[in-house]
Order: sequence, then C-alpha cells, then structure tokens
Amino acid sequence: MRHMCALAAFLLVPGCGDGGGGSVRIGVSDELAGRSAERDGYTKPLGAALRVEPARDDRGYLDQFATTFTSMTPENEMKWETVQPRRGEFEFGSADALVAAARRTGKRVRGHTLVWDQQLPEWVSEADWTPRELAAVMRAHVRALVGRYRGRVAEWDVVNEPFDADGSWTESVWYRVLGERYVEIAFRAARAADPDARLFLNEVGAEGPGPRARALRALARDLRRGGVPIDGVGLQNHTAIGSHPSRARLLRNFRSYARLGLDTAITEMDVVIPPGPAPRDGLEQQARAYADAARACRQARSCTGLTVWGVNDRYSWKGPGQRPLPIDVKGAPKPALAALRRILEP
Ligand code: G3I
Repeated sequence: MRHMCALAAFLLVPGCGDGGGGSVRIGVSDELAGRSAERDGYTKPLGAALRVEPARDDRGYLDQFATTFTSMTPENEMKWETVQPRRGEFEFGSADALVAAARRTGKRVRGHTLVWDQQLPEWVSEADWTPRELAAVMRAHVRALVGRYRGRVAEWDVVNEPFDADGSWTESVWYRVLGERYVEIAFRAARAADPDARLFLNEVGAEGPGPRARALRALARDLRRGGVPIDGVGLQNHTAIGSHPSRARLLRNFRSYARLGLDTAITEMDVVIPPGPAPRDGLEQQARAYADAARACRQARSCTGLTVWGVNDRYSWKGPGQRPLPIDVKGAPKPALAALRRILEP
C-alpha cells in the first residue's frame, strides 16, 4: 500500500492523504485561527520560516507565528531530503501540516526550495547520473512537489543559491551533470506543474554589489531574455548589526531587477547580534537593519514581501545566542518587530 501511496502521491491521486511517511498534525484552535494576523494587516506580506516540530509541540511558538506574521515558508519540510528521501518515495506529511496550518491561519505560503545543492538525499547527490537521467529525476520531483500544492503556494524558490561567494557556479550535482541549463529545466518544470505560482531564483549574499550579485543578475537577465519562466529574485538578507544592507542599497537592487521585469523579495532575513556583551544599542541597531529592509520593500512596488528566517530566537538556525530575529528567545517582541510593524502597516 505504501508503494501504491507513494505512486499515488507521485501521480497526485487523492486518497493517499499524506503521500506516505505518516501524517503530522498541528492543532490550530478556532480561537487562534480567529486571532491570526490578517493578510491585509500589512501593506506587504510579513513572513516567517516555520518548523514543524515546535509548531506541533510549542503553543507559544505557534501563537507567535499566527498572530504576528502573514506569510509562511517551511524552513526544511519541503526540501528534497525530507520530501523524497528514497527514489520514488514521497513523504509529504510535514509539509502538508505546515501548509494546512498556514491556510487555517490565513497565511500566504512560499515554497522552499525545489533545487539546491544542500539537504539532498544521497541517492541524488552521490549517484553517477547521465544528464538525461538527472533531468528526468529533477522534473519528476518538481512535478510531484509543486503539483501537490498547486493553487496553495504563491511563490516558489525554484533554484536556491546557484553561486559561490566569488560569483562562480556552485559545484552541485545539478551543475556538474547538467551545466547551467539545470536552472532552466527546474523553472520550466515548476511552471508546468503550477502555472499560477510565482517562480523565484533565491540567493544569499547578493543584497549589495559584488561578484555573486553580478552573477545572479546576469543569470536572471539571461533567463528572462531566453524566455525561461522566471518571475522574481529572492534576496535572503542574512546579515548582522554593523554590516546590514541599507535601504538605498536594497532599493537600487530591487529596481535593477524591476528593469528586467522581475519582482524581488526579502526571503530569509535575520540580523545577528554577535554573542558576548551586546553593544548598548544592539537591539536598536538590529531594529534599524530590519527597518531598512522593510522601508525598501514597501517603497519598491516590485518587492513582494519580507520574510524573516524563523519565528523566534529560540528556534533560529543561527542558535539563540546570536539573537537574530524580531522575537526573542522567550517569545517577547523586540524593537525590531515594532519597527517592522510600524513600517509595513497601512
Ligand atoms: O532532521 C535532522 C534530525 O533528524 C537530526 O536529529 C538533527 C540533528 O542532527 O538534524 C536534523 O537535520 C537538520 C535540519 O536542518 C532539519 O532541522 C540539519 O542537521 C541541519 O543542518 C539543517 O539546517 C538547516 C540548513 O538550512 C541546512 O543547510 C536549517 O535548519 C535551515 O534554517 C537552513 O536554511 C537555509 C535555507 O534553506 C537556504 N538559505 C540558507 C539557510 C541557512 O542555511
């Protein structure tokens, strides 16, 4: 039955609810659903990356998410190692639970991420592929995952982090076997699976000038000119106090993509306050960094939203000691959250 379910999930035949892998349930009470932040509460979506374990087990975490944010990105639950751990066997239980919780609380959903060189299962990253085989495996994965959430995901990070810091192509299995065209294959498969989802190219460290930013813009330009179905570029904006990109710099970046006909989004923002004795005004510096990004996104019509990479410091991928998010380790809002709300509210 499990194989049939996996196959059914692959064929998207209803009746195999969680696509194998056991179902996960996040209990969103009617009361919480009723208290959830309204999508039109902000002029642009204010999102957070969500994790399935704390959403299921930590009421405070889920409450903070539901009442603060208006968009949800699964932090890890839609990645290849989770969704297709073995070839042809799909495990959608965790992603289903996060998408259901997001919809129950009226959130927009960003899908993350279809093709990346990290968090791949070994059957993908370690095999000796021919180009034809690997392209078929990629297309089947994208078709199954994007198809499953067709109509429920507003934006997909189709390809994540294609470049190294020096602007060279990351030597992923995708690039090694397929060359640069792996990007086009991924975008065309995603468009075919959900014609209405907005398709993004997502990168870290490309918020300001530099070789990676140049490489990303050149790729986006070439994809557009080549008729590849790309709609936007995600700038992750993982940054720190004292070195965050300014509003003006982000605005310049947004506008340079808008001239290519592309939307932009801040997709994974966090602002580290280095461990140790925080500068007296560390929280204020952090609030300024978030405020700069929010102002730039609000000002640029082509910026589709701002997502922070976690609900609170306790569950940040950076570790609570880096204090990177607008809600602290105890679930209390910081000056950064007040700044985001002030700038993004109508
Ligand atoms: O699932 C296993 C679990 O079974 C095991 O017990 C546990 C301890 O070893 O590890 C768990 O896997 C972890 C996974 O997150 C799920 O929690 C991995 O070790 C850990 O490395 C992985 O980290 C994620 C990281 O991507 C991987 O590169 C972070 O949570 C996630 O926030 C981070 O997100 C990425 C974006 O997707 C892309 N942009 C950069 C960003 C930060 O790296």
